[in-house]
Amino acid sequence: MKTLTITRPDDWHVHLRDDGALAAVAPHTARHFARALVMPNLRPPVTRISDALDYRQRILDALPDSPQFQPLMTLYLTDATTKETLVEAAAHPDILACKLYPAGATTHSDAGIRDIRGINTLLETMEKLDLPLLVHGEVTSTEVDIFDREARFIDEFLAPISLRFPGLRIVLEHITTREGIAFVQSAHDGIAGTLTPHHLLYNRNHMLAGGIRPHYYCLPILKREDHRQALLAAATSGNPRFFLGTDSAPHARHTKEAACGCAGCFTAPHAMALYATAFESVNALDRLEGFASHHGADFYRLPRNTASLTLTQNPQTVPDAYPYGADSLIPLNAGETLAWSIMDAPPDQDA
Ligand code: NCD
Ligand code: ZN
Repeated sequence: MKTLTITRPDDWHVHLRDDGALAAVAPHTARHFARALVMPNLRPPVTRISDALDYRQRILDALPDSPQFQPLMTLYLTDATTKETLVEAAAHPDILACKLYPAGATTHSDAGIRDIRGINTLLETMEKLDLPLLVHGEVTSTEVDIFDREARFIDEFLAPISLRFPGLRIVLEHITTREGIAFVQSAHDGIAGTLTPHHLLYNRNHMLAGGIRPHYYCLPILKREDHRQALLAAATSGNPRFFLGTDSAPHARHTKEAACGCAGCFTAPHAMALYATAFESVNALDRLEGFASHHGADFYRLPRNTASLTLTQNPQTVPDAYPYGADSLIPLNAGETLAWSIMDAPPDQDA
């Protein structure tokens, strides 16, 4: 049986939610990843240092069996974010970055930034503090076609920001287009991008052809096949600017299988198997470790993990559903058989 042992990976973009949902999903992330950068789009959003640290403690409390797992936190930028908050965030070892959600772009983004051109002072402060900016890169105007929103955001906002603040480290999160890849490849040093397993494996036909599949619906939305191929080429190129961020985003079943369903794919339990499948499809399994375990740590200037994770070419069937508080949670690939599984590491492996 083929196996692949890599440095234990980190998930640089994940939604762990809160309360009962947190307890239901966090163990899946902690099982395979050493660290995770936790998105701040709770309700209300994580905007203050104390919110982030309290949330971090709730995550740790939800994971009594994973003492080695390290949640790393992000702050949600709003029109009211102060310079003092940024200064404190930059100095705190458990807070790594600030997240820019254009207001209305995605799940729980209504408290986000309304006028992106109005936050230059904040961006200048972040540049000076060397506090990375994480970006949900989609414009929100209703006139712009949903498939064009990422490319438009890059042209209208991201490229100008990167030129105006050349020292600002930026992560274009969950890139879904060839334009996003080209932007990261050609931008100045300190600009990177995360890639999800679903955008590496699926195009919009998987979601829409032959019936509408709500569990494939996420934002930014799945694009055409030529975009998927550009993402996969970038992920497997060895370029350290691209690294792993699952964007695992759980939503209760009834909120996805609905007349107006929520955006987000839940992949935390089998994300590494999906990434292995994607890399194997282009004979690039030797590049998985850099993408999953080295490039992100290097970008965030954190030590690479010393523990390991072993993947085996042993098929696994994804469960039909997981418990989710009083609800159920349907994972992406529910009921499907995947080619790879993960050998669970002994809990003391990182000790
Ligand atoms: C995310 C969520 O549900 O919080 N949804 C998604 O489709 N990816 C938010 C986000 O990252 O856009
Ligand atoms: Zn996300």
